[in-house]
Amino acid sequence: MLSQDSKIIIVGGGVFGLSTSLWLARAGYKNITIYDRCAFDKSFYNPLNGCDGASADINKVFRMAYADQVEYQQLAIEARDIWQAWTDKIMASSPSELPDGLTPEDKLLHVCGSYFLGEGTVLRDYYRDSLVTMEKTAPEFRKMQFLKDNGEEEARLRKISEKWVEKYHAIDGINNGNTNGFIDIQAGITIADKACVYTRFLCEQAGVNFVLGDPQGKLSSLIVEDKGVQKRVKGIKTYDGLSHFGDLVIVAAGSWTASIIPEAHHTVEATAGTVMFIDIPKERQDLWKKFHPDNYPVWSYRKGDGDNYYQGGGFPISKEGRLKFGFRGRKAASRISTPRTKYSKQPIDTVPLYGLSRMKEVIAQGFPELVEFGFTDSRLCWYTDSPDNNYVVDYVPNYSDSLFICTGGSGHAFKFLPILGKHIKNQLERVPDQFTAAWKWRVAEEGKPNNGLLEGEEGPREMSRVEMADREFFICLLHCSADRL
Ligand SMILES: Cc1cc2nc3c(=O)[nH]c(=O)nc-3n(C[C@H](O)[C@H](O)[C@H](O)COP(=O)(O)OP(=O)(O)OC[C@H]3O[C@@H](n4cnc5c(N)ncnc54)[C@H](O)[C@@H]3O)c2cc1C
Ligand SMILES: *[C@@H]1O[C@H](CO)[C@@H](O)[C@H](O)[C@H]1NC(C)=O
Ligand SMILES: *[C@@H]1O[C@H](CO)[C@@H](O)[C@H](O)[C@H]1NC(C)=O
Repeated sequence: MLSQDSKIIIVGGGVFGLSTSLWLARAGYKNITIYDRCAFDKSFYNPLNGCDGASADINKVFRMAYADQVEYQQLAIEARDIWQAWTDKIMASSPSELPDGLTPEDKLLHVCGSYFLGEGTVLRDYYRDSLVTMEKTAPEFRKMQFLKDNGEEEARLRKISEKWVEKYHAIDGINNGNTNGFIDIQAGITIADKACVYTRFLCEQAGVNFVLGDPQGKLSSLIVEDKGVQKRVKGIKTYDGLSHFGDLVIVAAGSWTASIIPEAHHTVEATAGTVMFIDIPKERQDLWKKFHPDNYPVWSYRKGDGDNYYQGGGFPISKEGRLKFGFRGRKAASRISTPRTKYSKQPIDTVPLYGLSRMKEVIAQGFPELVEFGFTDSRLCWYTDSPDNNYVVDYVPNYSDSLFICTGGSGHAFKFLPILGKHIKNQLERVPDQFTAAWKWRVAEEGKPNNGLLEGEEGPREMSRVEMADREFFICLLHCSADRL
């Protein structure tokens, strides 16, 4: 049985590991150690410093619109208060009160507005359901959402401020304006790397220990005692050759999870998200201003369904002058959960051609002023997809409650960083809550919708079979000779 004196080992210091340990430590659990192969104490979760987990990023969407999934909607609303409280706390701190890598100017949450956009004039189901659910369950938040191309809504927005009306029209160019959707002016972006630095700092203050870096923080294997049907995990081995024993091992290793827990192969799958960057030169202050979070919302654009599904988006400019664009749609997957990134043994510094081509069309049309720059950098960011996009937070069967899986972000967990651990702690303590059923241990089943999890090594989306873009294809956004698709 888990108790506050139990020795708890957590593998992975991303969103799931951090949030879990924060909520456990604050509730009185005394003996928690997070192991991560990345030296976050030196790299500060900055993706340019060798961090390749999903959480180590420059920014992420913060939204509350969740179609009819009211539990996640409410969780986001709850998280929002904490995001704001943390941001206020940081801004009111003196530099010496903050950890390395964080200054009082670092806002974790920017309420720049979040635009939800779909192709064509008919409101996408997901958006309609989001508005309807919000109206029913959190009407005060619905009042801050404004339908696109709607005179009354625009007038309502104008009463709040002229600035928001400018943002309302900031992405009119996409698909020549033949779009539907809404803007939520209480949503925005979180500054991901800074948020992780701050959360890690709060964890340390609450007594959580960290063993970071390769080899000392990098798990090589679980220590498993095998007694036939019931097994027990006694601890972990790290690449420095040491063994670390504990009462409970929580694996929160994101896309790498199934390489640590073999039973999880049909529970979670690593799939590649395409992320592209445009670095705006310093002398183009006009564009720095135009894309500043004060003037430009984060947006996501969806079109098509099934194999032609497109979901892409753009973020306001970062403090360093980076515009980030994302694409997810037709997936590229790693069946054996060995995600390849810039920092892998076999590094990769390009992205699938299919997504990149589609992304270029949208950007060139929506923002012709960016065409002259081309993309200056790229990244594969690995999602951890579950069969149904719900997280997987439960004891792994047949391990006598000694092994716990805590992952499956499916591309939408970052926004919950401050609050996720509250509910993970419930599952650890076997206190049923609104997420227990959705997050329970499960495997993808043949014949049921499973998010493509059973396609196997031979599947068409397996990374080794996906056509990748040439680097030269990055630099032109329009009329590229390499434009084959
Ligand atoms: C492209 C992309 C865009 C996204 N956009 C959004 C968004 O806009 N909004 C949103 O809310 N969410 C978003 N998400 C989802 C969100 O980023 C994830 O749900 C979340 O970051 C997952 O956290 P994690 O802790 O599971 O994984 P990770 O952050 O990947 O953490 C896993 C950690 O485990 C460590 N690890 C792995 N193997 C080992 C080992 N052997 N030993 C020790 N440590 C190990 C890794 O170093 C890593 O730090 C996005 C995800 C992606 C990929
Ligand atoms: C944590 O557990 C280990 C092993 O049982 C023990 O040696 C150590 O003193 C404990 N630390 C704390 C802070 O309780
Ligand atoms: C646990 O054990 C049962 C009984 O042997 C078996 O049916 C089941 O598949 C096992 N679960 C996992 C995840 O291995």
